[in-house]
Amino acid sequence: MDKIVINGGKPLHGNVQISGAKNAALPILASALLTEGTNTFHNIPDLVDIKTIKKLLCSIGAQIEGEESVKINFDKIVSHTASYDLVKTMRASILVLGPLIARTGTARVSLPGGCAIGARPVNLHLKALEDMGAQVELNSGYIEAKAKKLKGAEIYFDLSTVTGTENIMMAATLAQGTTVLNNSAREPEVVNLADVLNSMGARISGAGTDVITIKGVTSLKSTEASIIPDRIEAGTFMIAAGMTRGEINIIGCNPHHLEALINKLRDTGMKISPIKNGLKVSAGEKINSVDVKTLPYPGFPTDLQAQMMAYMSIGSGLSVITETVFENRFMHVSELLRMGADIVIQGNNAVVRGVPVLHGAQTMATDLRASASLVLAALVAEGETEISRVYHIDRGYQTIEKKFSALGADIKRIK
Ligand code: UD1
Repeated sequence: MDKIVINGGKPLHGNVQISGAKNAALPILASALLTEGTNTFHNIPDLVDIKTIKKLLCSIGAQIEGEESVKINFDKIVSHTASYDLVKTMRASILVLGPLIARTGTARVSLPGGCAIGARPVNLHLKALEDMGAQVELNSGYIEAKAKKLKGAEIYFDLSTVTGTENIMMAATLAQGTTVLNNSAREPEVVNLADVLNSMGARISGAGTDVITIKGVTSLKSTEASIIPDRIEAGTFMIAAGMTRGEINIIGCNPHHLEALINKLRDTGMKISPIKNGLKVSAGEKINSVDVKTLPYPGFPTDLQAQMMAYMSIGSGLSVITETVFENRFMHVSELLRMGADIVIQGNNAVVRGVPVLHGAQTMATDLRASASLVLAALVAEGETEISRVYHIDRGYQTIEKKFSALGADIKRIK
């Protein structure tokens, strides 16, 4: 298994190009299931999760070509099953449930188990499908859903769910009548998907607000579309600039998607200004400690909580980081402690007392964003840090060691 080895202490300078958003590419690739004809999607990131969804879509019948620009055709559906083997490696596989049942009337998708950051149930996806007239049963670890024709319905999500909103939005495009999604997720990835579906002929309005209306149509046609830039990757490099006392141009990001983070980083003393294709981000004189609370978009993203905690662990004072989206998303804390951080967990709060220096150590990645926080901590730590279980990071960051190395970091991957 690969390891990443980092010798910390180098300020990072230069340009970094942000890749396409994993969390937008996954549902958009799945949305091809709704159409006949060949779809072309540009700016697809080169990530393990993308390989996993391609494998899953191929097992259902997709013909797929290309990497950064992907051509995907679903003229034939050969299976209705998303197997346990694939779903267990990537929970977002659940995104085939909505389009599969809408297109074919039948879907059999392995029930995702819990994961490192919490139980992560899919009850809201299933309840919404039932509200639309589907018969949903759980059999031997599989969700079995059937509906000759889904019917438009008034749906209330008890809490804001990103893939839940995306799944039901896709299902509703081919339903009979109008579906209204109340308390829907407002993430930019939901908007990207809605735009793609509309370009296929869907009739969706309100994406980006908490009420999305979908008027069902009888069929969708293939399309050509682009994936938005990855705001979590962009945010990770922005935090790296502040932590390493450097200056990085974040090229190709969308600053509107990063407003919660930009505000927070400015409070820490960082300087952030727009440039032609993105943002110039530089460290302040010192690192002011700030409190952070994760929330659904447009609040501070839970997917940047671990990275922000690494930053606050070298802050000048006390920071309270509150996680409200996932119940168990502090797995990185014990690894940061091994590097000399001073963090105490109290329920869903982490109390972070800034320390003057972190120290290199042997560490282990536990989930995707936790591993990004270890990379950030290692970039400023004294001495060498070794991060094992790098496969977590490869799920969501494209060539992370190359991008950091080009900015001046001493980082290498050991096979
Ligand atoms: C998506 C993102 C993930 C991000 C998360 C929150 C993708 C592929 N993944 O995950 O990177 O961290 O949004 O921004 O886009 N919940 C239920 N029942 C459900 C569905 C969700 O209780 O049926 C709960 C979850 O356990 C969690 C909260 O709702 O506590 C939000 O989860 P959700 O938005 O669904 O996360 P994902 O879509 O899985």
